[in-house]
Amino acid sequence: MLVAPSILAADFLNLGRDIGMLNASADLVHLDVMDGTLVPNISFGFPVIEAVKDMVTIPMDAHLMVVHPERWFETCAGLGVQYLSFHYEAAGRRTASFISMIQSLGMKAGIAIDPDVPVEKLFPYIGKADFFLIMSVFAGFGGQKFIEETYERISTLKAEISRRGAASLIEVDGGVGVGNAENLRKCGVDIAVSGSAVFKAPDPAGYIAAIRVA
Ligand code: DX5
Ligand code: ZN
Repeated sequence: MLVAPSILAADFLNLGRDIGMLNASADLVHLDVMDGTLVPNISFGFPVIEAVKDMVTIPMDAHLMVVHPERWFETCAGLGVQYLSFHYEAAGRRTASFISMIQSLGMKAGIAIDPDVPVEKLFPYIGKADFFLIMSVFAGFGGQKFIEETYERISTLKAEISRRGAASLIEVDGGVGVGNAENLRKCGVDIAVSGSAVFKAPDPAGYIAAIRVA
């Protein structure tokens, strides 16, 4: 699996140090942008991504937890974001057009869903979206407990992707660590996001390596 540590759990007073560690050990940097409206929390915005982009050498994976995500697609492209996801809950019927907008800006397009959205809602976009971001906690906060039903949701989605022979990837986000990484890989996860587990580990780089080979 690829590992995408979320800098929501990094030490913001030493962000440069933490980005340096991720450059040397992770596959992607996961950037959680929250607006306090789609989700009940505010994280950080584009000035932080602007600062990160000057140092980061691995792809940036931005997760927009905002209403009207389409307002920020061009901004993200300009900042060099390579993987960009928005929430289905914010997009509704505009989901297909949002995917096209992101792809036409040269980025990989992802659709994120919270645990209460049936995974079948994603089926129309298999083969169109580059990836699906399956939330394994309710979006809004790091450090929450992994929801066990996620395994079944991912397996269901993976089976449909495989049945159609499509290339869409599956990313999982929320409460992920070495304890559940192997099961997630077996269910079909391609990219594992991990925030607090990575940054609380005594050896974050070693912890990232352990998730990757789980
Ligand atoms: C939650 C965010 C996650 C979060 C993951 O809304 O989308 O990316 O930072 O953090 P942990 O791994 O601590 O659950
Ligand atoms: Zn996220």
